[in-house]
Amino acid sequence: MPRSYTFTDALCRLPSTSIIDGLRAVDTGTPDLDIFAKDHADYVAALRSTGADVRVLPANATYPDSVFIEDAALLFQEGAIVTRPGAPSRLGEAADLAPVLEDYYSDIRWIKGPGFLEGGDVLVCEAEILVGQSARTDAAGIAELQELVADWGYKVREVQTPPGVLHFKTDCSLMDEETVLATERLSASGCFDGYRVLHTAPGEEAAANAFRFNDIVLMPAGFPGTAEVLAKAGLDVRPIGNTEAAKLDGGMSCLSLRFAPKG
Ligand code: GLY
Repeated sequence: MPRSYTFTDALCRLPSTSIIDGLRAVDTGTPDLDIFAKDHADYVAALRSTGADVRVLPANATYPDSVFIEDAALLFQEGAIVTRPGAPSRLGEAADLAPVLEDYYSDIRWIKGPGFLEGGDVLVCEAEILVGQSARTDAAGIAELQELVADWGYKVREVQTPPGVLHFKTDCSLMDEETVLATERLSASGCFDGYRVLHTAPGEEAAANAFRFNDIVLMPAGFPGTAEVLAKAGLDVRPIGNTEAAKLDGGMSCLSLRFAPKG
């Protein structure tokens, strides 16, 4: 099975009451914690439906954005990378998560800086890792990642996140070894040349942050055109409510770390 979307495990973190202080580019309203918690439970259930072992960590009020656990680490078969989030309020999240990673990995490496890198900018494909420079991830962070994963056999390719877009994966996701779902504004950069690109339906750019997890694709509910594009491509789509995470610029991939540690 392809390593880029075959997973035995996932880590999630419950949303905290402090989520109302989470970062956002534009204020579109206060997230409702009850709705967020229900959507989060549906999300965890969908991951578990594939047979994966999904561990849900307790809420951490110290870090309002910590429900978006994907940004704090990168998990490979060979080992784990503790990232260095570029948002000052999120910098401590990565070190806070590191002890949990020790339950799964003996080889844990750290982005030490001075560069920054957030998991939301990292798209792990079958043959390469695409990393988008963004307001949160810089060239130095990407270069350090390249060094850290070289002896595990991974190639890193630096690409650009569109201006004004939070993370690279805000606008794309991997569907299989050769197929990505992406917005037109991102694929126009040419970063997916050589891949088959499925585009989000017009006006549904917010559907691009989906992800393949074993035999299913989790995508935000409310984007019927894009759901149809994916279904027509033969993918088993599971829409999950995302209205509250979206108020904080969060999406499907942000809410979990997905992995399959070797032995
Ligand atoms: N609210 C998610 C983030 O900005 O990191």
